[in-house]
Amino acid sequence: MAAKAERTFIAIKPDGVQRGLIGDIIKRFEQKGFRLVALKFLQASEDLLKQHYIDLKDRPFYPGLVKYMSSGPVVAMVWEGLNVVKTGRVMLGETNPADSKPGTIRGDFCIEVGRNIIHGSDSVESANKEISLWFKPEELVSFKSCAFNWIYE
Ligand SMILES: Nc1ncnc2c1ncn2[C@@H]1O[C@H](COP(=O)(O)OP(=O)(O)OP(=O)(O)O)[C@@H](O)[C@H]1O
Ligand SMILES: [Mg+2]
Repeated sequence: MAAKAERTFIAIKPDGVQRGLIGDIIKRFEQKGFRLVALKFLQASEDLLKQHYIDLKDRPFYPGLVKYMSSGPVVAMVWEGLNVVKTGRVMLGETNPADSKPGTIRGDFCIEVGRNIIHGSDSVESANKEISLWFKPEELVSFKSCAFNWIYE
């Protein structure tokens, strides 16, 4: 059960929201069989985004990245399931959409690295950090999906 309760932080970036891709993106995680744990629609503050991307603070694109991420509302989510961090990254595709295969979210829906529509945690450790940065503990919802025993053996 514990492995099946792994969690990741997924965010639909401002371009994904503006381009009307919220439903398509959520659908992929739902139909895969991952369980929604938390979801909110918000305009993130610059402070929150600076903290979220703190590991990239010395990269030349960091100021532009924070500006892009704060340029409109985002959908912040937590998804749960077996290997959801790694599988989530596979579903997203490569950081640069040009390297992302068709069938991945970035491969299907976007073109440039600076407008790559979605974020996904890159490790269990960063997932835990990001979840606690974006959500209060009481915003995380526990329930057993009625499909659980049809998704896991
Ligand atoms: N060379 C670049 N030029 C412009 N933006 C970039 C560049 N490299 C990365 N970014 C932006 O910074 C984000 C974070 O970069 P990171 O290296 O963490 O990639 P990632 O883990 O695939 O993406 P994310 O953390 O958003 O899921 C990228 O998703 C992209 O939006
Ligand atoms: Mg990253």
